[in-house]
Amino acid sequence: MSIDQDTFDKIARFVVLESGIKLSKNKAYMMETRLAPILTRFGISSFQNLAMRLLMATAELRQAVVDAMTTNESFFFRDQTPFDLFNNIILPKLVEQKSGTGKGLNIWCAAAATGQEAYSLAISVLENAKLLEGLNVKILATDISQSALKTAQDGLYNQFEAQRGLSAQRLITHFDQEGTAWRVKPNVRALVEFKELNLLQPLGNIGRMDIVFCRNVLIYFDVETKQKVLLGIRKQMNPDGYLMLGAAETLIGISKEFLPTGEHQNLFQPASSL
Ligand SMILES: C[S@@+](CC[C@H](N)C(=O)[O-])C[C@H]1O[C@@H](n2cnc3c(N)ncnc32)[C@H](O)[C@@H]1O
Repeated sequence: MSIDQDTFDKIARFVVLESGIKLSKNKAYMMETRLAPILTRFGISSFQNLAMRLLMATAELRQAVVDAMTTNESFFFRDQTPFDLFNNIILPKLVEQKSGTGKGLNIWCAAAATGQEAYSLAISVLENAKLLEGLNVKILATDISQSALKTAQDGLYNQFEAQRGLSAQRLITHFDQEGTAWRVKPNVRALVEFKELNLLQPLGNIGRMDIVFCRNVLIYFDVETKQKVLLGIRKQMNPDGYLMLGAAETLIGISKEFLPTGEHQNLFQPASSL
């Protein structure tokens, strides 16, 4: 069964409205393979019928379609540089500012996928225990995809996933072996709270953030959606906070809400207080 152009357009329109994820025309095959299991699961006879059902779909079906169209690729300490900047620039600056204020440090991993980025941040926090002594550190990890968040919350990774980005030392220190898989240790897990959150919708009461890692998600959005999401993130941040984007992402010509730090092309700070 294949998707005709009209059906592709209808489903793509639904997906972009719900999630911001823009699907170019060459993604028809991807849509077919990802949505075929949903036809079976919901007893829907064709992609055309699915497109019709989406006009008045249940929350469950809507969520399943959006979830299937997300790309949750991630790995531990992805790109390394953001974590070097976290250790060497961001944490020392923020610790200095917060010293003696009694305020905690809030970190937000804004497209956490299957959890590797949030756990890499948690491991970095533990590795900086001395610097962070006396500071209450919290990591909020959010994503639109319920299935990715389930993996993240379980914190269980197979050998291949565990080896992608983790040194043997970190693996042994921060994970427990379960058969051929590895589970994040309770002290790492305890630093992270996972929550379903759509960056396009009102962010609710998630608190004021000092550090936001929002990596490899803006690439799926058009400029207008990027601007909307960035404004939402900006409103959620403390004025002295830091925003880290993905290696292929920039704000040049897109957002005036943030300014480059000069430390690195993917590291930004809020332009001014709102
Ligand atoms: C490629 S992963 C990035 C994972 C991680 N940040 C990294 O860089 O390794 C992109 C994630 O963005 C999430 N996503 C896409 N649209 C979203 C939205 N509107 N709100 C929240 N998360 C979204 C997807 O579910 C997916 O898990």
